Amino acid sequence: MTGQTQRKYRADYQPPGYLIDHVDIAFGLEADHTHVRATHQLRRNPQASATGPLVLDGRDMALEQLAIDGRELHASQYRVDDTTLTIFDPPDQFELLIENTIHPENNLSLEGLYRSGDILCTQCEANGFSRITYFPDRPDVMARYTTRIVAWPEAFPVLLANGNCVESGPMPCGHHYAVFEDPFPKPCYLFAMVAGDLGMIRDTYTTASGRTVDLRLYTEHGNEDQCHHAMASLKQAMAWDEDTYGLEYDLDSYVTVAVGSFNMGAMENKGLNVFNTACIFARADTATDSDFALVRDVVAHEYFHNYTGNRVTCRDWFQLSLKEGLTVYREHQFAIDQGSPGVTRIRQVRAMREIQFPEDAGPRAHPVRPESYVEMNNFYTITVYEKGGEVIRMIAQMAGREAFIAAVRHYLDKHDGQAVTIEDFVIAMEESTGLDLAQFRHWYAQAGTPRVRVATEFADGRLQLTLSQHTPATPGQADKPLFDIPVEIALFDANGAPVGAPQVLRLTQAEQHWTFDDFEAEPTVSALRGFTAPVRLEYEQSDTALARLMAHDSDPVCRWDAAQALYLKTLIADVEARRAGSAPVAAPELLFDAIATLLDNPPDDRELLAEMLTLPSEAMLGEQFDTIDIFAVDAARRALKQVIARRFDARFAALADAHAPTQAYVFDVAEAGRRRVFALALDYLAAIEADGIAARAASVYECADNMTDRMAALDALRDMDVPEREQVLADFAERWADYPLVMDKWLRLQASTRRDDSVEHVRELLGDSRFDFTNPNRIRALLGGFVRANRVGFHRADGEGYRLVADEILRLDPLNPQLAAALASMLTDWARHVPAQADGMRSALERIAAAQLSDNTREIVTVGLERRDSTD
Ligand code: BES
Ligand code: ZN
Repeated sequence: MTGQTQRKYRADYQPPGYLIDHVDIAFGLEADHTHVRATHQLRRNPQASATGPLVLDGRDMALEQLAIDGRELHASQYRVDDTTLTIFDPPDQFELLIENTIHPENNLSLEGLYRSGDILCTQCEANGFSRITYFPDRPDVMARYTTRIVAWPEAFPVLLANGNCVESGPMPCGHHYAVFEDPFPKPCYLFAMVAGDLGMIRDTYTTASGRTVDLRLYTEHGNEDQCHHAMASLKQAMAWDEDTYGLEYDLDSYVTVAVGSFNMGAMENKGLNVFNTACIFARADTATDSDFALVRDVVAHEYFHNYTGNRVTCRDWFQLSLKEGLTVYREHQFAIDQGSPGVTRIRQVRAMREIQFPEDAGPRAHPVRPESYVEMNNFYTITVYEKGGEVIRMIAQMAGREAFIAAVRHYLDKHDGQAVTIEDFVIAMEESTGLDLAQFRHWYAQAGTPRVRVATEFADGRLQLTLSQHTPATPGQADKPLFDIPVEIALFDANGAPVGAPQVLRLTQAEQHWTFDDFEAEPTVSALRGFTAPVRLEYEQSDTALARLMAHDSDPVCRWDAAQALYLKTLIADVEARRAGSAPVAAPELLFDAIATLLDNPPDDRELLAEMLTLPSEAMLGEQFDTIDIFAVDAARRALKQVIARRFDARFAALADAHAPTQAYVFDVAEAGRRRVFALALDYLAAIEADGIAARAASVYECADNMTDRMAALDALRDMDVPEREQVLADFAERWADYPLVMDKWLRLQASTRRDDSVEHVRELLGDSRFDFTNPNRIRALLGGFVRANRVGFHRADGEGYRLVADEILRLDPLNPQLAAALASMLTDWARHVPAQADGMRSALERIAAAQLSDNTREIVTVGLERRDSTD
């Protein structure tokens, strides 16, 4: 909380002055403090130019001992300030001993060593290790670690750290201890230790070469039965990485610990992952299908980091996408291979459009490889992650699957055990695939979403297709270069039959033309199939063409997208009419015909049907306007939903009947699809408060054997002012009182309920005993749910929604700056809103800015308040 941290620039990279070969770190865990004693073997880095003092990072700790080669340092030989320990005249090679105390029991930042319930655990990425001991807290210093933990056996019967347990047992003083050795050199951000009274489930995995790996998953006692899906997912991920990339796990044990207080989803510490319980727990009665999918994908993601991140790591944090983009891509492919590839891809595309595109168009826009930062934790963004993943996907697509996998193997072999850059990765790709990625590199360096215009001309049986590109300026990057953009297209005739095979066009210039001959009638173009590039497509297709694609396109993404485009056309016109004060715009008959056709010929994949019948979200609709009017967007979307519900009420009722639960819960594609359609049908019927719908939802709630159907019922009842709503909410709270993650659903549901006094209601819940201000999951459920899922409440005309959120950010910032900054970033897109809202959001940001703030939150509000036109 110094507020004076320097901005760091990628261009300023210097190799570390000292290398550390071995770290010996010992923890003495006591009730009111933890004692840390570390012995490092250091030597000057032959690659470093500068000689001079040794500067170690460290914060929030009390230094007790400092010795070089066994001799204690005199006060004149070193200096300690808030964030560093400087040793003035160190030898070229030496052993450094540091002893210090820390206070995990009071550490609410959830970085470094901290307490989650009665568990002590660590979170070191990005810079948490320097809250444990003084150390060069940068990923290019890689060492072998030996970790010793000493603790009272009653409080902490289970002791864990990275690597193999080489020694353990009781001590004469009544403590017990354990020593771990990690054979792989690693950066300190991958360090982990855990101590607690933990329950465990255990399994084994036999690798392709026949080695047995011991798999253990720890959690607080009593939760073991919520961990089996995570364990099964881990084994799926291990098998997938062997089958797909030929990558086998490299240690004898793989340990995961689930904790209730965690800032993020999960962390890939070598051999000892620490997870948010929200990304581990999944049992039919407590978790929804989305939770099951989330657990599966996060478990896989962290597992995949073992190669892409741990064996080959990042040189510095500007290279974050080196590990995260590549691992997100691997996770996405894994998810696609688990079934329902079309719908899985649609979800990935939706996240890009609804969250990444706005980030890339707003004040916080930054390249996949950022040029500078104040607080690294603010750069774990959807741009670094998901756009980074899409960039990898484009390389994979251009190389072809086999060649891409060979190239990843080449990259991993070439750089095994090293800390490298995105440029090193791109060079490895070029070496192995033979691709020329010179122009393609702009994807890493340039922020902003390229716009690709599609234009067609048809004459004399010949189709001319013109693609052109333009990328708007982003903060600090006024003139954009031309990108290398792969655009997959396919052509369909009037009956929806494909004409020729799909092909990938490479748009590398400002404008390019392609011609296609020998047509009897004008074909329909399906463009950007599978979302081959993270671009905005500007293509004014006729309603008829869209309806044709919606009915026939063989690419699920384009098929869904055609439906979305049709809905959007109607919605945009209606929003504009409402804003102009004219009469609402009715949906065209063609839209109803297209829906009827879809209902008559539904795709085999039920989830795809549900996706196609789901209207674009408010976020997606808002994205269509330079200036967003939340209330017009909300009104238009609700109106269209009701019109569709009224037109097809009988069909939705039949759909609900045909998709009602008939068997015990299983998490598979067919059943999850069935549940999605069921929920969707209930939702449409609820939108018009169809006869008997409240009673039906209440009975679904009552009879369901699983949380997915229960939540479908609750969601349907959410905005209906009926006694059933209060009954099921009360029942829910009572039934799941002992399940904090389920109570998060309850908090989120109420935060997102449409009601005039929702701000007051959220304030009340902040004081509820079931809420806990020190737990990120509770905060994300209540405040995140309010801001994201209750736009009308959050943007309430009197500005009280903004005031509430600002109050909570200010209250949270001194406790957990990382989370406070994440909340603050929800206010930064104020300039996109109509003045009435923009002013309120901006004043809330200004009020936050006026306070004493952490570096984290300061960086976000500063960027959020910069004038948008400062770019040119
Ligand atoms: N390495 C990150 C976790 C992390 C992020 C730690 C930021 C510290 C600061 C981990 O691999 C990760 O990316 N986790 C994601 C989930 C994943 C499935 C995208 C997360 O925690 O949200
Ligand atoms: Zn990750």
